[in-house]
Amino acid sequence: MSVLQLFPADGQNMALHGLYRSLNLHRQAAAGDVLIYANYIASVDGRIAVPKRGSSESEVPAAIANPRDWRLYQELAAQSDVMLTSARYFRQLAKGCAQDLLPVGAGEAYSDLVQWRREQGLKPQPDVMVLSSSLDLPLASLHSLTDRNVMIVTGAESDVVKRASLEAEGFRVLVGGDDGQVDGRVLKQLLITHGYRSAYMIAGPEVHGTLLSAGVLDELFLTTHLSLLGGDGFYTIAGRQLDRTVKLQLRSLYLDQQDAGSQLFARYGMHGTAC
Ligand SMILES: NC(=O)c1ccc[n+]([C@@H]2O[C@H](COP(=O)([O-])OP(=O)(O)OC[C@H]3O[C@@H](n4cnc5c(N)ncnc54)[C@H](OP(=O)(O)O)[C@@H]3O)[C@@H](O)[C@H]2O)c1
Repeated sequence: MSVLQLFPADGQNMALHGLYRSLNLHRQAAAGDVLIYANYIASVDGRIAVPKRGSSESEVPAAIANPRDWRLYQELAAQSDVMLTSARYFRQLAKGCAQDLLPVGAGEAYSDLVQWRREQGLKPQPDVMVLSSSLDLPLASLHSLTDRNVMIVTGAESDVVKRASLEAEGFRVLVGGDDGQVDGRVLKQLLITHGYRSAYMIAGPEVHGTLLSAGVLDELFLTTHLSLLGGDGFYTIAGRQLDRTVKLQLRSLYLDQQDAGSQLFARYGMHGTAC
């Protein structure tokens, strides 16, 4: 179950279990700050999602999704106070096209993470913040998360009637931007105001772009599955125009060499921004 450490270069084999959990991301933010990190799995040709067969929806390519990467996804989730996701995710969930918003540690293979959160004094499950301009959110999917706080973040110009009906259903709706969109800087301030110290972004390219353009993302975990998928319709990790070029600094790189499909686990720090 080990992976080979390529950077910093020391040729050591490391256990997969605990590889990311040992980072203690929930303790890295300075006082009064929050650490925001994102995670993706992509093919070598950059696909994170492709059209779902027979549907207008997209999904993580089945050819690259795998349990070893999922273990690391769970370890990153275990270190978060809150998960940031998109309205589209909940719409996909309602149509049965998305993985359930994981309870951290569901299933025997991940039960150590539940125990670890307890030992760390973290809540059993991270809270959830959902970004949406349209506020078209399926209530049943939102209500399915009974084990944590679910908040919706939207722009000031979003529909007041929809806002009121979400609040009437018991969800907090936070204003995270002056126009219809959530602004990454305001979102970061909301996270700090709510006392969160670690936020795990699990959405697609638009939410990622919101954070990148605002310069508020601290770390990017990117698994590159060593396969080429091709095809015309796809999402990448930063699909929309970014307001600026974001430079990355490699912090660690591991090779997971497997007969069933190899992958690289990279961790990047954001190295400032350039126009
Ligand atoms: N391979 C991977 O690791 C990976 C990871 C994550 C996602 N994915 C896949 O990527 C595809 C796209 O994911 P996604 O739909 O979650 O992606 P997304 O592009 O981040 O989310 C889009 C939705 O989020 C809301 N949104 C985004 N930025 C916003 C802002 N600044 N202000 C207000 N609302 C904002 C909007 O909701 P409204 O329309 O309601 O306004 C928008 O429709 C999916 O197929 C997913 O499975 C793959």
